[in-house]
Amino acid sequence: MTTPHQTDLRGRVALITGASSGIGEALARALAGRGVRLALAARRTERVQALADELRQAGTEAFAITADVRDEADVQAMVTATVEHFGGIDILIPNAGLGYRASIVEGDTQRWKMMLDTNVYGVLLTLKYGVPHVVARGRGDVFLLSSVAGQKVGNGGAAYSATKFAVNAIGEALRQEMARENVRVTLLQPGVVISEFQEVADYPPGLIESWLGGTPPVQTQDIAQAVLAILDLPQHVSVNEICIRPTGQVNP
Ligand SMILES: NC(=O)c1ccc[n+]([C@@H]2O[C@H](COP(=O)([O-])OP(=O)(O)OC[C@H]3O[C@@H](n4cnc5c(N)ncnc54)[C@H](OP(=O)(O)O)[C@@H]3O)[C@@H](O)[C@H]2O)c1
Repeated sequence: MTTPHQTDLRGRVALITGASSGIGEALARALAGRGVRLALAARRTERVQALADELRQAGTEAFAITADVRDEADVQAMVTATVEHFGGIDILIPNAGLGYRASIVEGDTQRWKMMLDTNVYGVLLTLKYGVPHVVARGRGDVFLLSSVAGQKVGNGGAAYSATKFAVNAIGEALRQEMARENVRVTLLQPGVVISEFQEVADYPPGLIESWLGGTPPVQTQDIAQAVLAILDLPQHVSVNEICIRPTGQVNP
């Protein structure tokens, strides 16, 4: 049996938004394990700070940034801080996002706006200011967090699915823009991943059960493992979309 190829990621720089919890935190831990230097951003300073401190103690170069991805000045400052600290960006992960389910008639307009601003405008801002630094490296990677909700729309899922369909559009446009820049663009489309997401989205009791029927969900570390597997492919190979469902998830 041959050993799978492992790209040497040591010394590369990753900027991850939404690193205070869930998938972003798991990505930080997995990349740290491969020697990647980390800029970890979120609104909850104490959470990203604690993670950066923990990873630093374990030998990773990591630092925390307080940033709200809906705020253009915050995003610019986040990117500037990363570049000043590490000299550039190799792996950009605009992961910050949230869910909210409600029918169109009953939807809370403030929650819609917050979600649209975070999941769509925040991603665009992070890309606008971050991508030029990835391009400047001559090669790199961008991972975008779409969802199975970016493929299928369920009852109550209008606004969240709209944000993830938008992320798909952004990812495909970015792929075309980056193709000749040697920057790979991957849309991650997870199914149910247990994190703080369900709590933030106020999922009603029984919803996850209706999707999974008691079978195990995907864990945040599973998403991180898929990202490492993609990074381990040769640079001329791009995985542009990957849907990662729990095996037992029927819908969406
Ligand atoms: N969990 C799932 O089932 C699932 C499935 C498909 C796709 N996704 C996507 O995966 C991504 C991560 O979700 P998750 O499951 O890891 O959820 P999570 O545990 O709730 O983490 C969300 C992260 O986003 C950050 N965030 C939210 N609003 C922000 C803002 N305005 N500015 C900066 N950071 C912000 C949060 O940090 P602060 O609160 O500290 O700012 C937190 O670190 C999201 O884009 C989500 O849509 C999740």
